[in-house]
Amino acid sequence: MQKFNIAIDGPAGAGKSTVARLTAKRLNFQYIDTGAMYRAVTWEVLRRQIPMDDEQRIAEIAAEMDFSLETTASGTKIYVNGRDVTEEIRSEAVTSHVSAVAQLPSVRDVLVAKQQKMAAAGGVVMDGRDIGTKVLPEAEVKVLLTASIEERAKRRLHEMRAKGIQTDLERLKREIAARDKIDSERSVSPLRKAKDAVTVDTTGMTIEQVVENILDLSRTKVGPLE
Ligand code: CDP
Ligand code: CDP
Repeated sequence: MQKFNIAIDGPAGAGKSTVARLTAKRLNFQYIDTGAMYRAVTWEVLRRQIPMDDEQRIAEIAAEMDFSLETTASGTKIYVNGRDVTEEIRSEAVTSHVSAVAQLPSVRDVLVAKQQKMAAAGGVVMDGRDIGTKVLPEAEVKVLLTASIEERAKRRLHEMRAKGIQTDLERLKREIAARDKIDSERSVSPLRKAKDAVTVDTTGMTIEQVVENILDLSRTKVGPLE
């Protein structure tokens, strides 16, 4: 089987990371969570108390960060300069500020270059907002995952309750809608369907159905997967 790349984009809660991780596992590919990279930069910016609009300083910080992603049975771990920040980057503070950091053009330039390097050898499943349009425009397989905001918020609620975190559906809907708005309206690399991407509406679909869908699409694009 040739080494190809799969680009998966979509809004928060569409199922990107879960589906990308499982698809990578099935193909023995590497999974790269680009959202985790934007989150890690945001976490560092908050930790150092840098103003969210200090673009140059934030880009410098991003450039100094060495990212490594490791997929384990329970999920994906992210290390920055050797430190495991998997838990820290999921905090509410990071979630509410990440879209502001992700709209800074020089920060995007730095992270996009790192992501392109990570995928240069092929055999990667990468998820984010601009993978099919900007990071990997030549990816053999491109998918735009969507789901209704109701369903996406319910998924998040379920996930948070499982972790013992109390929140409510309306609040999650507001949080997701606010992030969707910034991510799809920003001037640099907004969330858009790449012209050659296939849209998969995952509302009512199981995770396994979505993974099979992407594997079928991959067969159509590149041939047998064995
Ligand atoms: O997992 P969730 O959908 O909550 O978001 P994420 O994938 O962890 O991404 C967090 C944020 O990073 C997004 O809301 C975007 O603002 C930004 N992001 C981006 O701008 N471009 C990417 N390729 C990936 C994430
Ligand atoms: O990465 P993104 O924000 O797009 O979504 P995710 O973190 O992969 O998925 C959010 C939650 O939805 C996870 O708890 C998944 O298990 C769940 N999910 C689902 O219930 N059905 C799907 N078809 C996809 C994801």
